[in-house]
Amino acid sequence: MQIGIDKIGFYTPHLYVDMEKLALARNEDPGKFLIGIGQEKMAVAPVTQDAVTLAANAALEILTDEDKEKIDFVIFGTESGVDHSKAAAIYVHRLLGLKPEVRAVEVKEACFGATAGLQMARGHIALHPESKVLVLGSDISRYGLNTSGEVTQGAGAVAMVVSAHPKILAIEEPSVYHTEDIMDFWRPVYSDSAYVDGKFSNEKYISFFQNVWKQYREKTGFTLSDFKAICFHMPYTKMGLKALRTVLDETDEDGRERLLAHYETSKSYNKIVGNIYTGALYLSLLSLLEQNTNIEAGARIGLYSYGSGAVGEFFSGILQPGYRKALQPARHQQMLEARKEISVAEYEAIFTTSLPNDGSAVTLPVNEDPATVCLAGIEGHKRQYVNKN
Ligand code: HMG
Repeated sequence: MQIGIDKIGFYTPHLYVDMEKLALARNEDPGKFLIGIGQEKMAVAPVTQDAVTLAANAALEILTDEDKEKIDFVIFGTESGVDHSKAAAIYVHRLLGLKPEVRAVEVKEACFGATAGLQMARGHIALHPESKVLVLGSDISRYGLNTSGEVTQGAGAVAMVVSAHPKILAIEEPSVYHTEDIMDFWRPVYSDSAYVDGKFSNEKYISFFQNVWKQYREKTGFTLSDFKAICFHMPYTKMGLKALRTVLDETDEDGRERLLAHYETSKSYNKIVGNIYTGALYLSLLSLLEQNTNIEAGARIGLYSYGSGAVGEFFSGILQPGYRKALQPARHQQMLEARKEISVAEYEAIFTTSLPNDGSAVTLPVNEDPATVCLAGIEGHKRQYVNKN
């Protein structure tokens, strides 16, 4: 039985900052942000969006009544959780109107959370082939104003329906993974921004890639020529390229050109959204699938997932016949083009506006946010979410 990604939804907030303007405001050469890092725009979440609302908005665009009837497991990968106890998946479960006979949990391992969710979902479908699983990857990436990580922030969510007989990508066996206890990037419970050892994190991202790619090659006998394209976790769009380049001498000129050309396509959305942590790999996959013109069904796509701390995984999938019909490029183009640019000063004001951290009541301006699902405020220490439909 084939199991994999049946649908992919994506949501990013309606505000962004232009990276050339951010570079100038930070006394940096714009070439560093635009080319050296490879980011053109950075999504900014208004106070009315959090990990829950971003995920619910991403899922809303893909779920039919039939999906809602069949989904019996919601797995929410995030490192921007809104509660130490209650799973973000439960809020989303209500906001989407799913049936009560559902398991709903939150999974955490930095940017790896959604991949853990996807693999758990496959196991669940193998046991219950008639059911479907909703896997969410939703985050707001925060390093702080005037930090070297600032250029790699972003906000957004990816929602995937995982099922038997998937319409988009059938995930293959085996999958290979690697874990090591390292401090390359972390966010202590008292901090709303991440701590990072930037250069070390880049080195580890690459060495974990080399490790899992070697394991994968040894287990499968596959080489780079067996892949039409490889998608990478994308903290910023230059990162995956650095890892890809370290293995390109394993293939010939044609192979190098193919993989590099598809890498360009796979960063289309990420370069104008930024790092969305758990969703970043799947946003890259979505970019590739929605923006390519020459990848046919039957092609094998590689996927490299990395979550700091750290866990890496390499796995692959086969594109399914008619996969383009299951995608929504026009809708995503429209969402990205309808966004509003804000100035660096406006972004800084949003960044420094936080919700009261003592639980005091607050009402938020949901009418200023075009999203369907918004955070409307806090009452009695409880987050108040609205679905405007
Ligand atoms: P930095 O020190 O500010 O930048 O930090 P840099 O000096 O290394 O410059 C970056 C690149 O720009 C360099 O290119 C420069 O040469 C180039 P490279 O040598 O790397 O190819 N450059 C220019 N290019 C063109 N024109 C110019 C110019 N000037 C310089 N004028 C860093 C960069 C990424 C380290 C920083 O932004 C950071 O710490 N970001 C956050 C951490 C991160 O994203 N790490 C990635 C791997 S870890 C990961 O992916 C997990 C993560 O998603 C978290 C999770 O799992 O939850 C982060």
